[in-house]
Amino acid sequence: MANNKRMNLTLKIWRQKDSNAKGQMVDYKVTDISEHMSFLEMMDVLNEQLVNSGDEPVAFDHDCREGICGMCSMYINGEAHGPDRGITTCQLHMRMFKDGDTITIEPFRAKAFPVIKDLVVDRMAFERIQQAGGYISVNTSGNTQDANGIPISKHAADEAMDAATCIGCGACVATCKNSSAMLFVGAKVSQYALLPQGQIEAVDRVKNMVAQMDAEGFGNCTNTGACEIECPKGISLENIARMNRELMKAHLK
Ligand code: SF4
Ligand code: FES
Repeated sequence: MANNKRMNLTLKIWRQKDSNAKGQMVDYKVTDISEHMSFLEMMDVLNEQLVNSGDEPVAFDHDCREGICGMCSMYINGEAHGPDRGITTCQLHMRMFKDGDTITIEPFRAKAFPVIKDLVVDRMAFERIQQAGGYISVNTSGNTQDANGIPISKHAADEAMDAATCIGCGACVATCKNSSAMLFVGAKVSQYALLPQGQIEAVDRVKNMVAQMDAEGFGNCTNTGACEIECPKGISLENIARMNRELMKAHLK
């Protein structure tokens, strides 16, 4: 028979009724949790327990539950997306914990990500940064040049693809002592800066996205590198350097 370790756990969870309420940590017990469950499945067990006893379930964001959408923002035992590396909270397995553990679960904390309720934060600031320039304008009248017909070096294509894997989860912001969004914005700027299709709007893109990032109240990068370590998609600090070079070039034009 396959191993199936079962666990009894204490959860310390941030509960906050709404954005104006004063939140607090509340203790819960969950029992008979399988090591094969995902972290979110464990949270589902807790919520079922709370609903059955007439209490309000813990609000948390989730959607794809397979590491794609970037919704599942949880700060677990002091780390964005928990103790594993290169994964999102929905990909975190309970086998990372042991029977009797106490697990602390908080929302992603940053001034630019206000708490909406419990573990749910408002990450619309990222959307507004994207809207400021994270796109290319293409004529879709039917005369569009086939993307495969534009020569791009393998190196540039690979680097652009790596930058494009950013899922906008916000773990970089939550992890950074300055609540900096530069890894996210660096990835979004780089995705286009590396490709010929991104050149036409390059100057406005980097200027507008960085201006929006500052307007949203994110802090500056001081090269600590914690964001790179906690990023579930392995977005490299090199993207921040590229964004800074792009910004310098844009101001010289
Ligand atoms: S850079 Fe990484 S941590 Fe930051 S939003 Fe993108 S995927 Fe998430
Ligand atoms: S729920 Fe989509 S990345 Fe976790």
